[in-house]
Amino acid sequence: MDSTAKGGFVREMFASIAPRYDLTNRVLTGGLDGRWRRRTIALLAPRPGARILDCCCGTGDLVLHLLRVQPSLEVTGIDFCTPMLDRARRRAHTARRVAAFVQGDVMAMPFAADAFDGATMGFSLRNVVDVDVTLREILRVLRPGARFVNLDVSKAPNRAFKRIFDLYFYRIVPLVGGIVGGSRMAYSYLPNSLTHHPNAPELRNRFARAGFADAGYLPLMGGAIAVHYGTKP
Ligand SMILES: C[S@@+](CC[C@H](N)C(=O)[O-])C[C@H]1O[C@@H](n2cnc3c(N)ncnc32)[C@H](O)[C@@H]1O
Repeated sequence: MDSTAKGGFVREMFASIAPRYDLTNRVLTGGLDGRWRRRTIALLAPRPGARILDCCCGTGDLVLHLLRVQPSLEVTGIDFCTPMLDRARRRAHTARRVAAFVQGDVMAMPFAADAFDGATMGFSLRNVVDVDVTLREILRVLRPGARFVNLDVSKAPNRAFKRIFDLYFYRIVPLVGGIVGGSRMAYSYLPNSLTHHPNAPELRNRFARAGFADAGYLPLMGGAIAVHYGTKP
């Protein structure tokens, strides 16, 4: 599959699971993702009034968490999937939060250089067509001194724990995703996107190679979840 086809496939797949995406997330993580999202925002440590970009915002979970933690933030969410963005807009409206939602590809964003004081991404870097292009593009839109924080599943370093996690991730997730989320295919693809994704130390090196200073990561859940971060020099 070439890169245009892969992008289209990913967009269509998320469009198909958008209606039940939030419910499925809560069920699959037992609600723990809320805790991981708050840790992610704590690592970003946004100042009041800061302009924050949430990349691949999906249905707006991180956008809403950011505004809950710091209501004065100026938050923009970007995603290339219309049904996910529609849900994000509806959720923000219901929660009476103000955020901008922009349709676009995170590998070529419609924003000026140095436009944001910080950026987040949740459970998405595995799904972009090119990780390095994406990291360089995020770096471009951040102002010098701004931080990017990325929350995602990762490869647990402990073999025994990884075996248990893999059983859950590759067997239970497609099953539950099929029942609750309505698409066994999508919830089989999503775990498999981790297979070819770099492990946590490799991803930290890719952050550094893209140009982020002080690149590092915080392992959560025995390393099955990782929050990577870096700062624009
Ligand atoms: C697993 S969802 C995560 C949504 C949200 N960030 C969250 O934490 O729940 C992945 C999202 O990434 C979006 N996405 C994937 N590749 C993208 C790209 N190249 N540009 C913009 N959005 C993209 C998909 O449309 C989808 O909404």
